[in-house]
Amino acid sequence: MCGIIAILGKSAVATALVDALKRLEYRGYDSAGVATLEDGVLTRVRAEGKLRNLEARLAEHPLHGHVGIGHTRWATHGRPTEINAHPHATGRVAVVHNGIIENFRELRDALARDGAVFHTQTDTEVVALLVDHALERGLSPVEAVCETLPRLKGAFALAFLFAGEEDLLIGARQGAPLAIGFGDGENYLGSDALALAPFTDRIAYLEDGDWAVLSRSAVTVYDAGNREVTRPVSLIPAGTLLADKGNYSHFMAKEIHEQPEVVGRTVAHYVDLATGTVRLPEEVAIDFAAIDRLAIAACGTAYYAGIIAKYWFEQLARLPVEIDVASEFRYREPPLTGRGLALFISQSGETADTLASLRYAKAAGWPALAVVNVATSTIARESDVVAPTLAGPEIGVASTKAFTCQLAVLLALAIHAGRVRGVLSAQEEQELVDALVGVPSHMTKVLARETQVEQVARDLAKARDVLYLGRGLSYALALEGALKLKELSYIHAEGYAAGELKHGPIALIDEAMPVIVLAPRDKVFEKTVSNVQEVAARGGRIILIGDAHAAGEAGLAGETAVVMPEVHPAVVPLLYALPVQLLSYHTARVMGKDVDQPRNLAKSVTVE
Ligand code: AGP
Repeated sequence: MCGIIAILGKSAVATALVDALKRLEYRGYDSAGVATLEDGVLTRVRAEGKLRNLEARLAEHPLHGHVGIGHTRWATHGRPTEINAHPHATGRVAVVHNGIIENFRELRDALARDGAVFHTQTDTEVVALLVDHALERGLSPVEAVCETLPRLKGAFALAFLFAGEEDLLIGARQGAPLAIGFGDGENYLGSDALALAPFTDRIAYLEDGDWAVLSRSAVTVYDAGNREVTRPVSLIPAGTLLADKGNYSHFMAKEIHEQPEVVGRTVAHYVDLATGTVRLPEEVAIDFAAIDRLAIAACGTAYYAGIIAKYWFEQLARLPVEIDVASEFRYREPPLTGRGLALFISQSGETADTLASLRYAKAAGWPALAVVNVATSTIARESDVVAPTLAGPEIGVASTKAFTCQLAVLLALAIHAGRVRGVLSAQEEQELVDALVGVPSHMTKVLARETQVEQVARDLAKARDVLYLGRGLSYALALEGALKLKELSYIHAEGYAAGELKHGPIALIDEAMPVIVLAPRDKVFEKTVSNVQEVAARGGRIILIGDAHAAGEAGLAGETAVVMPEVHPAVVPLLYALPVQLLSYHTARVMGKDVDQPRNLAKSVTVE
């Protein structure tokens, strides 16, 4: 998932292109590049690795053009080298691309038969050559792009720059997101509102199949049928998008510490504090009494929030729930019959597999509810109902505050469903809402004891493999813990349902294997304690996350423990997520890893 930016400016655009790429770097940081017109000549500067390498190159080879395109890459086809870095160009056209051209081999072979010479291993180069060939045949830039787009299969957001065309940019979208920014005598294209925020607050999102022709004074949008269309312009105040680290060394650390505030804000949006009841925002109009099934699909951390939601909806509302990773849901082709609701969870709202699952459910006639953090995202725009998380921009690639805000929304929805389906009494609702409202202050207490986790992390940093165990609501948190440690420290970690231990993974247990056990005081606490005993019996190194009495009751006095406040079992995942996040953060920090931009990852996965 790459980041794209294009600017038709009134002055030199190279610096503005790079600044915009900095805000897109969470999408990929394998290489970066820009191209501008220098006296009408297409001129590129590219560099392998982080954006700072491109900045160093531009310092040596400054660009002065007033129109340009830029790209930060997450490599899909071809190694992350300078030669494979975007923009890809001929003497006539330069292009930047986010997505995958699935039929690039076929196009490549056809072009090669026509004598085309390829210099890169990328799929994108075929786009540049197809347009170039059309220009060579005398077509205008607009005609050349119009002819080329229907030949491309797969997902793509593209921006084109043409030699000699000082007042022209062309953009196209199929699957991967692309937005137009409207300026005053300037116009822009960008992968999302974050990229365009410093330039303008007037943004329009292209829909699938759209392409747009931009000059400094006009923007024309065409749909897949080449009919001229207009797309709604949203006003997005820049302040809501721009984020900085404040006095934290990493965005992830800042976002972990923002959780009491943003979870509080999210909870307040879904509950009536005066009556201690759930009061869904007007826009979240769902009649849970009118549905018999809930199907949830999501990816990564959002998928783990979905597993926890399954437990809540089934236990608190007796609503049957099926849950899938979205990349399986879309191809499993579940029979979505009867009175059902499809629920999609996503921080970015742009994850390709989750978006495709949403389209599958809608095609089957099921209403789609989305829990998203980016209100202007494609998933939000294509859903029937949007239940927003109010976490604010999440920049760190590892999802933290978006996860706990997702949990807050999902628990509020499950409590509401329990009420309207006559499963929960008013008193039970009040008890649960009180517990939910109390989470932010408990979070503050846990964050105040961060040092206890830091000590454990120093030890964990020496491990080769780590196991996470949990039961019930903590099972999905064990999976999330393992994901966080993997994606940040690159230590191999696995999360397991504690009851599954003796069916295989217990064979891994020895003195070298840290076993992190989530042991809140809930109805399966005793069962978890017996699993802990099984690990202890094999000499495993247990790290217990539980309340003050847990270690003693588990006969682990003196063992490593992260002591947590005692809370209502239903809100345990929101609170126990913090030590899980802090452990992975400090372990990676101690190991000197790039916490905010872990290798091989990107914040929003817009390709399959
Ligand atoms: C989590 O830390 C990862 N960044 C990743 O697993 C993420 O949760 C997944 O890609 C889903 O992203 P989304 O919530 O934006 O859809």
